[in-house]
Amino acid sequence: MSFENVDYKSLNIPAAPFSDPSIIPSFPKGKVPRHVGLIMDGNGRWAQQRGLVRTDGHQAAEPVVCDVIAGAIEAGVRYLSLYTFSTENWKRSPSEVRFLMGFSRDIIRRRVAQLDGWGVRIRWSGRRPRLWKSVIDELEIAEERTKHNTTIDVVFCINYGGRAEIADAAAEIARQVRDGKIEGDRVTEKMFAQHLYNPDIPDCDLVIRTSGEQRTSNFLAWEAAYAELDFAPELFPDYGRQAFWRSIEHYVNRDRRFGGVKKA
Ligand code: IPE
Ligand code: IPE
Ligand code: MG
Repeated sequence: MSFENVDYKSLNIPAAPFSDPSIIPSFPKGKVPRHVGLIMDGNGRWAQQRGLVRTDGHQAAEPVVCDVIAGAIEAGVRYLSLYTFSTENWKRSPSEVRFLMGFSRDIIRRRVAQLDGWGVRIRWSGRRPRLWKSVIDELEIAEERTKHNTTIDVVFCINYGGRAEIADAAAEIARQVRDGKIEGDRVTEKMFAQHLYNPDIPDCDLVIRTSGEQRTSNFLAWEAAYAELDFAPELFPDYGRQAFWRSIEHYVNRDRRFGGVKKA
């Protein structure tokens, strides 16, 4: 099945983000994670298990991405970072890389109206060099169109690497020191964080990874330094808003101490 010939209207795409309120768990007030990072893993294995090609697994992920965004809105999550393409994913075959680039561009184009209607502010986090210009163009159009939305910020992490982001921040600070704009001995954690890709976005509270793998694969290295981790067993195409709520439920029951001691 070639990518161009897929009839996306036939896919199970949620027309509206809203569930029957009775099925949405009522999370304790103030306990819902403000910023969730999601490592959407397992598309290739999902396809292989069905005798399909890896790219079919990526296609199957599209409605799931929308469903999870809807579930995040319903749960009251304010920032959702989606790990879409890592700085390491360039190691994949040229045909898979080409597919993932074109597919990212097309998903954003295809979904921008729907997400805009849901109040989503679309953003991008990642490195410019090497990323297809058409992907950057599409992201910039979507960012511009949705910049006033305030329901949720959905950050597509494309050509994103945690170490790349930290190195880019360090390089930017070094340039500013060279140009006399900042003093070298003034580098603090707080000012360093102001040079990350999206400095206004708060630290990540919860990182979820699907597919049962238990690693973070260079995702949000700085922002998730103190995040809770949830490893969901489902391959990403089998994940969805209810599984996402289960991950939130796990988070809500965690005891976050940040190095301190819990009050008796
Ligand atoms: C995640 O699924 C999607 C991307 C990394 C783009 P994978 O493609 O990594 O699927 P698996 O892990 O090989 O099953
Ligand atoms: C992480 O998944 C990257 C994305 C989901 C975009 P990978 O499948 O690339 O990570 P590894 O290879 O298992 O560490
Ligand atoms: Mg993987």
